[in-house]
Amino acid sequence: MSLAEVFQQHPDRRYIEFGGKGGLGKTTFSAATAYWLAKQGHKVLVFSVDPQASLSDIFQRDIFGKGAVEIMPGLFAQEIDADRHIRQYQEQIRQKIRDMYGMDKIPDEIEGYIQAAAAEPAMEESAIFDAVVDIVVGAKFDYYIYDLVPLGHALYYLSMASIYDEWIGKVTALRQEMQEYSQVAALLERNKKSEEDEILAELQYIKGRINTSSGILTDREKTAFFFVVTPEEMIILDTQKAATLFAKYQVPISGYIVNRVIPKELARQDIPEYLRRRIEMQAGSLKRIDQTFGADVLTQVPEFERDITGLEMIGRVADSLFGGGA
Ligand SMILES: Nc1ncnc2c1ncn2[C@@H]1O[C@H](COP(=O)(O)OP(=O)(O)OP(=O)(O)O)[C@@H](O)[C@H]1O
Ligand SMILES: [Mg+2]
Repeated sequence: MSLAEVFQQHPDRRYIEFGGKGGLGKTTFSAATAYWLAKQGHKVLVFSVDPQASLSDIFQRDIFGKGAVEIMPGLFAQEIDADRHIRQYQEQIRQKIRDMYGMDKIPDEIEGYIQAAAAEPAMEESAIFDAVVDIVVGAKFDYYIYDLVPLGHALYYLSMASIYDEWIGKVTALRQEMQEYSQVAALLERNKKSEEDEILAELQYIKGRINTSSGILTDREKTAFFFVVTPEEMIILDTQKAATLFAKYQVPISGYIVNRVIPKELARQDIPEYLRRRIEMQAGSLKRIDQTFGADVLTQVPEFERDITGLEMIGRVADSLFGGGA
């Protein structure tokens, strides 16, 4: 099956992800897929959750923190500004403290605490996570393409979703139990009970959001996850390991795409020994890829003569990914 056929045969798979080790071509393929889908008449959002996002680089436009920016008809790109989300969190916390205690100014001690909490790496993850949920729940696009971070991080992100979910499940259950116990007391203390209800409602709201986003990531019907590999021994080994781990988190893998294959036509010409050896080495690795991933390998993309930036180059990659003319 080709990559185009995977899309044609599974029109319900609206959440597209390219995973793989650092620098193999995830962002390039995310952009090229968005380009191809937009050309087919779909409304597509390609977005990045990476603080070192490079969608601005590939589209040659500064889109950081600007929401969904239209790059060409039907193609929108977005880079999430995690810091801004953290600042919004902080402001919400300050507002709650002001309201609760009727304060005009946050005491220095508490302000220091709010600042320190923002420096926690978990805070950034959680801000990004929240922004992703907002995007996905928004349901404004036909296709959502996650420009993922390298493997380790994506796994962390997935595992965090399930841990977070489990934690909230426990707290929610506890709250429900307490609610039952406190029913008698509540007859006497009406106000307290409605406060409890509010907290429970908020927890269930958060749980619902998390289930939506992590559910989408692992939903075979709605999600297509592709691995990017290159013809190198170490990359093949790492990808195999990662695929096993992904299976553990129930991420359904839709196929593998081989990037940076030196064009075979070159081998027939009079080429330097150096290049001939590189081609031979790649041929060996391509054989390994075929033995390892077999029919799950959807397509090969050649090594281009330059970096992939700008719509013209993105279009060339899309032609190679989906078989030109589209
Ligand atoms: N087939 C190709 N031919 C030439 N250059 C390529 C090709 N594929 C990717 N590149 C270039 O390789 C570099 C890395 O690609 P890209 O940014 O897509 O990788 P990535 O997997 O998203 O990296 P990261 O893990 O850092 O996010 C970029 O400069 C890109 O233009
Ligand atoms: Mg990238």
